[in-house]
Amino acid sequence: MNYENEHIANTYQRLPINVLNGNGAILHDINGKRYIDMMGGYGVAILGYGNNKIKEAVCRQFDTIPVAHASEYTASREEFVKNLTGIVPAGLDKFYLGNTGAEAIEAAIKTVIKSSKKHKIIAMTNSYHGKTAGALSITYSEKYRQSFGDILMKNVEFIRYNNMEDLEKIERDDEISAVFFEPVQGEGGINIPDRDYVKELRQITENNGIILVADEIQSGLGRTGKMWAHEHFGIKPDIITIGKGIGGGLPLSIAAGKPEFMDNLAKGEQSSTTGGNPLSMAAGSAVIEQLSQSLIDDVARKGELFRKTLSESLDDSKIVKEIRGLGLMDAIELKVKFLPILMDIINRGVLPLYSGINILRMLPPYVITDSEIQEAANIMSQGIKSHSKKVVGSTTPP
Ligand SMILES: Cc1ncc(COP(=O)(O)O)c(C=O)c1O
Repeated sequence: MNYENEHIANTYQRLPINVLNGNGAILHDINGKRYIDMMGGYGVAILGYGNNKIKEAVCRQFDTIPVAHASEYTASREEFVKNLTGIVPAGLDKFYLGNTGAEAIEAAIKTVIKSSKKHKIIAMTNSYHGKTAGALSITYSEKYRQSFGDILMKNVEFIRYNNMEDLEKIERDDEISAVFFEPVQGEGGINIPDRDYVKELRQITENNGIILVADEIQSGLGRTGKMWAHEHFGIKPDIITIGKGIGGGLPLSIAAGKPEFMDNLAKGEQSSTTGGNPLSMAAGSAVIEQLSQSLIDDVARKGELFRKTLSESLDDSKIVKEIRGLGLMDAIELKVKFLPILMDIINRGVLPLYSGINILRMLPPYVITDSEIQEAANIMSQGIKSHSKKVVGSTTPP
């Protein structure tokens, strides 16, 4: 821990947990303390810890060929791309393979600019798309942007998420290349837009030749109880970005789009030394193989169980503003700052995530059991209730 603190740049809010091992949705720290993991490594561990199929696929791949640059053809990549074609929305079957979510966003930004030959991009209030310069330019939070104004893209305009009036601005502007949006906002606090709004957004972008990019890095791959969160709204975007759980813990991200758009990136315009590397490809195939419809249906059911258990036990809490979510992408919005409550809940053996200054966020593994969900919800309620009586002093949020 000391070496980490001394030698790793201080860019992450650290939590008081030193993880040793895990199984399913359960983590153990170095002192043997058990935690129910409602964070899932920021939404990466979708199939839980200790998934044998991923482990075997990666070990097998390591024994065969662990390294093959994207300039070389290789069987694991061929197989992954075939598998990926089976889960992306029909027609969005041309891919850029990267490592991190932000990198998939960069590829998408370049794709829309090359495709439309226009440079203006529309993003949304409370959006989060990553922290590389392009991705940060379409990320809303001033906290992340304020020191880097000079290197951010200039032609970005933010419109209000889930606000019909602001869609009129898009209609009147013929300089717009693309709209980037999260079908359910994650970092922004689990914000679920109205169906009519998303339908209107799709209609207006389609009518005006504007490319619609759905950032599914956090909301995709079954997280919301459907393979892609945009399916809840009955629309199809032109490009989607995928990340987090697709690599089963190995770095892997994808920009997936219609060939008419993806084909506009020329050789050399986007690349990465490890993009499409065989180990991530093997892990990715093992993840896709396990993303069955029944597992995804179970995510929807487990999400409902979690929110119901929470609502029942938090019924009389004065500091809870709202419990919301879709599938296993959930939030408890508090009327007070979350930090002391988060620390208390971690102490009680549940590891949640957070958003902003007053939101507890949950992105647990899909394999979490019903009894673990109920246990986590009850422990979180106890943590919250124990603070309902206290005046929560001012704390510095992460
Ligand atoms: C919606 C969304 N887009 C992009 C990113 C950036 O992904 P990464 O942190 O892998 O660069 C994230 C990360 O949380 C995200 O939630």
